[in-house]
Amino acid sequence: MCQLLHIAEIRTAFPALHQNVFNKPLVYLDNAATTQKPWPVINRIKQYYEFENCNIHRGVHYLSQQATEAFEHSRRTIAAQLNATASHEIIFTKGTTDSINLVASSLGRLLLNGGDSMLITGMEHHSNLVPWQQICEQKEAKLMVVPITDKGEIDLEQYQKLLEKNPKIVAITHISNALGTVNPIKEMVRMAHVYDIPVLVDGAQSVAHTRIDLLDLDCDFFVFSGHKVYGPMGVGVLYGKEKWLERMPPYQFGGEMVDQVGFDKTTFNKLPFKFEAGTPNVGAVLGLETALQFLEETGYDAVSVHENILLNEATAKLSEIDGMRFIGEASDKAAVISFLVGAIHPYDMGTLLDKMGFAVRTGHHCAQPVMDRYDIPGTVRVSFAMYNTLEEVNRLVEAVRKATLMLT
Ligand code: ALA
Repeated sequence: MCQLLHIAEIRTAFPALHQNVFNKPLVYLDNAATTQKPWPVINRIKQYYEFENCNIHRGVHYLSQQATEAFEHSRRTIAAQLNATASHEIIFTKGTTDSINLVASSLGRLLLNGGDSMLITGMEHHSNLVPWQQICEQKEAKLMVVPITDKGEIDLEQYQKLLEKNPKIVAITHISNALGTVNPIKEMVRMAHVYDIPVLVDGAQSVAHTRIDLLDLDCDFFVFSGHKVYGPMGVGVLYGKEKWLERMPPYQFGGEMVDQVGFDKTTFNKLPFKFEAGTPNVGAVLGLETALQFLEETGYDAVSVHENILLNEATAKLSEIDGMRFIGEASDKAAVISFLVGAIHPYDMGTLLDKMGFAVRTGHHCAQPVMDRYDIPGTVRVSFAMYNTLEEVNRLVEAVRKATLMLT
């Protein structure tokens, strides 16, 4: 059974889980959209605004220096936890989308020219598609897409063939938000590096579920959001290898990203500040550090085992419902089940589940090309976190059964 984790204790740490919606106890299964926040994270942010609030890297006074030290401490802790080579390879951003926009704009300007190409996959979230599409349009470069199989896996033979066409950049999701597929990311990075192609990994859906070792993964860029890893909204991380970040032009301008400013010319600050224009979200960065510590202390292995038990149990029991169709049946999956039942529209299923207390997501999950691939308007998506239980899985299955009867 899944009692490697002390679930009752873990649930106590998350105040939002203990409420009713429509007079039913909330069952929160929309964790791929955002996770709930534990008390240590909430308290860390509260403490910052109560006692430590100050602009950083700017003041000689006590509070500013304390806030600066706390902010830089977060950078060092997060770099160490992800096993980055140096803390200046960690750039704080607003989130995954912001991080990818930064790399697409800056690396795209550096590497892409007219007639070039770059490579993404058919299972990308819009955030790892649209920014690249835009820079490709600006540079008159081609956006190539690796197809996905019926099971929802990347076609690795096609990936190899497209790498041979000499794309200048590769950008791939680690775990698909719409399908739950865990991509063989280390192997895909290795395959691209045979051709010296830099690889960006979208880790938005992976950091909450699996330990990230950047040195081992060897990707050139890795991005994720705080709010999907039990941390606050409005903060995210861009990891980049120093060799690329040094060469890349700044993305936004102003604030502490400058060195010398004159009307004729401006020179820019060193890493990581060159990419952190304007006042950063200091409280959120401190909250993110606390969230990642919380995850570390809970134990990545235990979280992963627990979530896999939930995934397997839910998949097995949901599959017994007449008309159940899973979208995404990769052999390696994490924490996400996307499904349709018969001809029931996902929105109708989601609305009925909501009235029964279940928070699930319905629609295209910001991955319209994935829905097009399966020729469907969208899915119902259930996504698990460390605090979900087998009892919640059983209740979900009963609720889906009941909703199916009501809608057919
Ligand atoms: N990217 C988030 C999701 O998959 C919002 O729901």
